[in-house]
Amino acid sequence: MWTIIRSCLAAAAVATGGGLGAVDAAAETVALIGTGNVGAALGQRLALRGHQIVYGSRDPAAADVRELVRTTGHGAVAVSPAEAAARSDIIVLAVPWSAAEDVVRALGELTGKIIVDPTNPRVMASDGFADYPIEDSNAERIARLAPGAHVVKAFSTLGAETMLDPKVAGGPVTVPIVGDDRGAKARVAALAREIGLEAEDVGPLRHARIIEGLHYLRANALGGRINYHLPRDTARD
Ligand SMILES: NC(=O)c1ccc[n+]([C@@H]2O[C@H](COP(=O)([O-])OP(=O)(O)OC[C@H]3O[C@@H](n4cnc5c(N)ncnc54)[C@H](OP(=O)(O)O)[C@@H]3O)[C@@H](O)[C@H]2O)c1
Repeated sequence: MWTIIRSCLAAAAVATGGGLGAVDAAAETVALIGTGNVGAALGQRLALRGHQIVYGSRDPAAADVRELVRTTGHGAVAVSPAEAAARSDIIVLAVPWSAAEDVVRALGELTGKIIVDPTNPRVMASDGFADYPIEDSNAERIARLAPGAHVVKAFSTLGAETMLDPKVAGGPVTVPIVGDDRGAKARVAALAREIGLEAEDVGPLRHARIIEGLHYLRANALGGRINYHLPRDTARD
């Protein structure tokens, strides 16, 4: 499923001269659970910035997963989701929203880890618009399953193509971030900034439902062809 992302990455690498410069944040070990569009985009991009990438796949030996590991390079590996989580400090749940809770249950001990939740819970309502399938948020559900972890909602409001190459957005893109641990949010924001995105801490995890709702604005208005930018209102300075 990540073939388009792979070819886009090659184009992005050419456009940037093949290099993205030095690593700005501390080198992190990041688990990408799921090897679809989001996992592949973030994995490849973060690997270019010097982070250790550990893909967590249901079938790490599958041909397309092996190809993703090869394309990612920089020492990336693919293992089972539980092993990827055990090896990493930051775990990105790049899986279907409806699978996220089962995936978290199978990840093992998560105390002290940062769990990044980019999932977009959605159903198609009878009037044809994307809508909330749950009363709360997926991020809060994940947090209830992993009370010792720091859950950070991030990367749900932009397309995988933009994660791979923010220039395709034609302007700055903000990643709104919510979570209850400031340190965890700062580390996730640093990763977003490293790959060319802006990042803004917009509050606690209980506001994750607002962030998840931004997906419906994208999906319902222009079929996902909207990016969010949160510029500072200097009139109040
Ligand atoms: N696509 C986007 O532009 C975008 C943007 C923002 C947020 N999101 C959100 O990010 C998440 C991932 O999106 P995506 O586009 O990367 O999805 P995707 O291409 O369908 O990939 C999801 C991956 O999750 C893994 N997985 C684990 N359990 C699964 C299950 N029960 N069924 C199917 N796959 C399972 C699979 O990897 P393995 O086979 O290796 O296990 C699969 O490749 C979703 O929740 C989505 O709402 C997507």
